[in-house]
Amino acid sequence: MNNNHRRFAVPFLLAGLVMAMQVAAQDAPAAGEPVLGTDYTEKGADTCLKCHDEDSKFPVLSIFKTKHAQKDDHRAPFGKLQCESCHGPGAKHAEKVRPGEERPPIMNFGVRSKQTATQQNKACMGCHERGNRMAWKGSEHEAGDVACASCHQIHATRDRVFTAGGQSEACFACHIKQRGDFFKSSAHPVRYGTLRCSDCHSPHGSAAAGKLLAKPTLNQTCYSCHAEKRGPLLWEHAPVSEDCSTCHTPHGSVHPALLKKPAPLLCQQCHSPAGHPSVAYTGAALPSGTPSGFLLANSCMNCHSQVHGSNHPSGARLMR
Ligand code: HEC
Ligand code: HEC
Ligand code: HEC
Ligand code: HEC
Ligand code: HEC
Ligand code: HEC
Ligand code: HEC
Ligand code: HEC
Ligand code: HEC
Ligand code: HEC
Repeated sequence: MNNNHRRFAVPFLLAGLVMAMQVAAQDAPAAGEPVLGTDYTEKGADTCLKCHDEDSKFPVLSIFKTKHAQKDDHRAPFGKLQCESCHGPGAKHAEKVRPGEERPPIMNFGVRSKQTATQQNKACMGCHERGNRMAWKGSEHEAGDVACASCHQIHATRDRVFTAGGQSEACFACHIKQRGDFFKSSAHPVRYGTLRCSDCHSPHGSAAAGKLLAKPTLNQTCYSCHAEKRGPLLWEHAPVSEDCSTCHTPHGSVHPALLKKPAPLLCQQCHSPAGHPSVAYTGAALPSGTPSGFLLANSCMNCHSQVHGSNHPSGARLMR
């Protein structure tokens, strides 16, 4: 550690005191919640690191390999109050305590934190309110009391959300059903790391109505990779341009091509089976309809192969 903090120690100490007093006035701790200190340490990280290092129960040093520890970046925690930019005033916490005496608490994050998600997030939002966090307020995750630190790892060389496997594990910790979906026989290749949740979702809030989608609508989200399905097409198939999720599940399905149901059932939700091959010939006697060999293999798509619409002059029946 160098003694960089001296540059700001005094002005920030004062600013910190004023800030802390304001904070204390606004959010008086609820009953049972620990009362946090209001004074910053004089020596910043140097003080903290006397007791917290890589050999501690919770190793802290990997933060020095991250953007947060850039001392030359005046926006970053280590260009400011260092550890206490996030953990808040720590002078009281850092004092010597007598054996048997309880150490005064300090602001904490993550699973062992005694502060609410809102209180934790405020520490981060002081620096991160802009950019992708513009829609955080009112988002599903904010409303669900999810903390920034539930997804992000601050004391890690590489925050897991920036790696494909790490990110989905972070999400699956709470979204267990979706984990199951991605392991079905037909699935978007998230488990191979080809896709990430954040290719389709904005975890910090979104302009879409619900489901935290990366684009304003579900179809626009799909078009960002499956552009060929957008058209314009000479012969559109109405449900396709309306909503891909009429026929597809976004994550995974036991039916091929992420389909919600297999054809012909899928199609017959809307199209009458009358006057058409409607029941596949399987060799077994069937109670209704005329069994047809045309419905084996690709079912209705044996003939209507252009189920997403057609650009062929005579593609009105989606057959070419
Ligand atoms: C004199 C030793 C000492 C110093 C200095 C110290 N800590 Fe701690 N800290 C501890 C101990 C011991 C614990 C565990 C407390 C417990 O388990 O009750 C702890 C716990 C914590 C926790 C968990 C939350 C809590 O209240 O238990 C955080 C976060 C923390 N310290 C951050 C810091 C920061 C940031 C600094 C510098 C401002 C700092 N510590 C300075 C000894 C110290
Ligand atoms: C950018 C914000 C930020 C900065 C700066 C920061 N921390 Fe943390 N700290 C966190 C978060 C978030 C956690 C929750 C654990 C995690 O990252 O998974 C945490 C956890 C901890 C813990 C573990 C507490 C427990 O529950 O056992 C200690 C100790 C700690 N920090 C000490 C420090 C020290 C010492 C520094 C300075 C060298 C520091 N922190 C700088 C955000 C920060
Ligand atoms: C004192 C200001 C400050 C605080 C407090 C702060 N950050 Fe940051 N954070 C920054 C800066 C500056 C960067 C680097 C931005 C850049 O280079 O574009 C950054 C980068 C990040 C990144 C991107 C890291 C990367 O490798 O690209 C994440 C994620 C992040 N912060 C999360 C958090 C979380 C979560 C908290 C609260 C626990 C927090 N930050 C608290 C200033 C802060
Ligand atoms: C539900 C999980 C989740 C939560 C909660 C979350 N993030 Fe993120 N965050 C991510 C993911 C995933 C990425 C990577 C996005 C990508 O790869 O495009 C990310 C990226 C970032 C980045 C770097 C890129 C950018 O968008 O600027 C910052 C900074 C950041 N988050 C800050 C925060 C802050 C502050 C909070 C709390 C208000 C927060 N995050 C809450 C999942 C989350
Ligand atoms: C290919 C794009 C895509 C990917 C990748 C993706 N999602 Fe989704 N997700 C969607 C769409 C689209 C919806 C909305 C479905 C609807 O409205 O019918 C959705 C809905 C959700 C929902 C709401 C509940 C539900 O199942 O409808 C959750 C939770 C969710 N996704 C979590 C995740 C997680 C976690 C990951 C990563 C492991 C992930 N998603 C990856 C597209 C995607
Ligand atoms: C700490 C738990 C937690 C983590 C981690 C988490 N989420 Fe969530 N998520 C929630 C809660 C709570 C809600 C709001 C309640 C609900 O709809 O289930 C939510 C809602 C959502 C929704 C909207 C669901 C809807 O029905 O509108 C999506 C999409 C989503 N999360 C995706 C993600 C992704 C992607 C990640 C990882 C980057 C992630 N979540 C990580 C807890 C979490
Ligand atoms: C970030 C890019 C991306 C987005 C966004 C995306 N997909 Fe995909 N999709 C892929 C990739 C990659 C594959 C796998 C292609 C392969 O295996 O050759 C795929 C495959 C598919 C498949 C074929 C699956 C199979 O088993 O044959 C369907 C159907 C599909 N996507 C539908 C959708 C729908 C519906 C949406 C919108 C909810 C969507 N995709 C959004 C990238 C994306
Ligand atoms: C009317 C039902 C239906 C709708 C709506 C629909 N699809 Fe499909 N999709 C299918 C069927 C059926 C298949 C399988 C085709 C086959 O087996 O020949 C398929 C296959 C796919 C495939 C994999 C094969 C290929 O053609 O590339 C992708 C990708 C795909 N759909 C994307 C989309 C997107 C994106 C949307 C929304 C714009 C959408 N689908 C809307 C029925 C539908
Ligand atoms: C959600 C309802 C819905 C589903 C599911 C659906 N379609 Fe359609 N389909 C329509 C509508 C609406 C039209 C337009 C009818 C019109 O213009 O008269 C249409 C048109 C068609 C046409 C062109 C017929 C014409 O009259 O121009 C064919 C062929 C077709 N669908 C085949 C299929 C097949 C094959 C499937 C299954 C993969 C399927 N559809 C699933 C609603 C659906
Ligand atoms: C053996 C080829 C074949 C198969 C298999 C097939 N169709 Fe057709 N379908 C046709 C032909 C040919 C037409 C055009 C009739 C016309 O132009 O008058 C047609 C027309 C249609 C139309 C337009 C309205 C109508 O009845 O004329 C719809 C809707 C349709 N098919 C849906 C389906 C569905 C749903 C399935 C699966 C259950 C299916 N088709 C299977 C050949 C097939």
